[in-house]
Amino acid sequence: MSRIVTVLLALIVTMSAQLEVIYERPPLYQKQSDAFFHGHRFGAVEGSTKSGKTHGGMAWLFEQAIKESPYPNLWWVAPVYKQARIAYDRYCRAIPATLRTANDSKMTIELANKRKMWFVSGEKPDNMYGDDVAAAVVEEASRLRQESWHALRSTLTATRGPCRIIGNVKGKKNWFYKQCRRAEAGAHGWGFSKIVSSDAVAGGVLDAQEILDAQADLPEAVFKELYLCEPNDEGSNPFGLKAIAGAIRPMSSQPPKWWGVDLAKSVDWTAAIGLDRASQVSRFARFQQPWPETTKELSLITQRALVDSTGVGDPIVDTLQKGRSNFQGFKFTSESKQRIMEGLAVAIQKGAKGEKGGVWYPDGVIVSELEAFEFQYTRTGVKYSAPEGMHDDTVCALALAVECRRTAGKHAWGPA
Ligand SMILES: Nc1ncnc2c1ncn2[C@@H]1O[C@H](COP(=O)(O)OP(=O)(O)O)[C@@H](O)[C@H]1O
Ligand SMILES: [Mg+2]
Repeated sequence: MSRIVTVLLALIVTMSAQLEVIYERPPLYQKQSDAFFHGHRFGAVEGSTKSGKTHGGMAWLFEQAIKESPYPNLWWVAPVYKQARIAYDRYCRAIPATLRTANDSKMTIELANKRKMWFVSGEKPDNMYGDDVAAAVVEEASRLRQESWHALRSTLTATRGPCRIIGNVKGKKNWFYKQCRRAEAGAHGWGFSKIVSSDAVAGGVLDAQEILDAQADLPEAVFKELYLCEPNDEGSNPFGLKAIAGAIRPMSSQPPKWWGVDLAKSVDWTAAIGLDRASQVSRFARFQQPWPETTKELSLITQRALVDSTGVGDPIVDTLQKGRSNFQGFKFTSESKQRIMEGLAVAIQKGAKGEKGGVWYPDGVIVSELEAFEFQYTRTGVKYSAPEGMHDDTVCALALAVECRRTAGKHAWGPA
């Protein structure tokens, strides 16, 4: 970071009658500079990891902030709070304290010229509407929810503000990938740049050996996305996109036989999925409401149901089980989640082939969450989840419904 402190702002402050600040752009290598500083209102930058995307975006947004404008506010948008905080901290270290007022809790930096940079998380798109934003950077765009991009885009309308959108490649099923393709094809108002790791090596930002090491350490598909900007659709999806598409069938009108229920955590939804005797989805509900109403609604289920009893779910399952034997609790741990997700993967693959033991579901939310779902290799094993800022409640409900079918008749509930 000290590099940023010294180079991002080479500032000479002379106190005379007026405060005069001379800003000098930090050195950017040519491709990095071209990616941000061009004449288009919008710019999409698909870049290798650690190629200097954030660095370039910071320099660009800062230069928007020191311009004259009737609109004071500028936004730095990241998928989750934690990432927005990283850019906020980097700016705080880079801009001399005498030239800005930083508000740690609001994550805003007001410059001496009264223009204000806001560091915004895309977790709650509804909260992003309403402001008039003079210029913005979207970071980690392939992980940002599409609704958040729509919200940000609306805030740039009155101001006709420019925007730079940066991210690394992450499959083809996200708005950023699609937007990059439109920008690359020359969409009106858009510039497009791709920075791969060899560009960053040539620019002196990445070490060639480091890239060879990463290539040796990472699965090929992951390396290709992160370093070469080559999308890989199947690599991090445990179900397989072809299989997901192959198991789509219209909603069944038959009565449900097995249920899976995933209860809302702090930011997501409660999802309930019922499978009919042919393992086709015949009931699907997804809602956000207070626990007493959720419990009341779920108590209408009379068939076998496997219900998430992790954390807050425990007392709910207790209540549902009073005088009834059709509800069974399921505690999510990384091992139990992996097990039922692998069960779901097998069922989807059989579904796509039309085989016994398959599962079938209608197009829509279930399919988009299945497509976005991913596994990651971590120190402790494989982690199955939605990308940060996205939801997996319907995937969990579907996996629970398939697990409910598998375990029915085997134990606890007695014969089917
Ligand atoms: N042109 C540059 N010259 C010197 N250092 C740079 C340059 N661009 C980026 N860096 C440094 O390289 C590191 C990675 O850059 P960063 O912008 O965080 O990459 P990305 O966002 O693409 O992952 C940071 O420490 C950053 O300060
Ligand atoms: Mg970055």
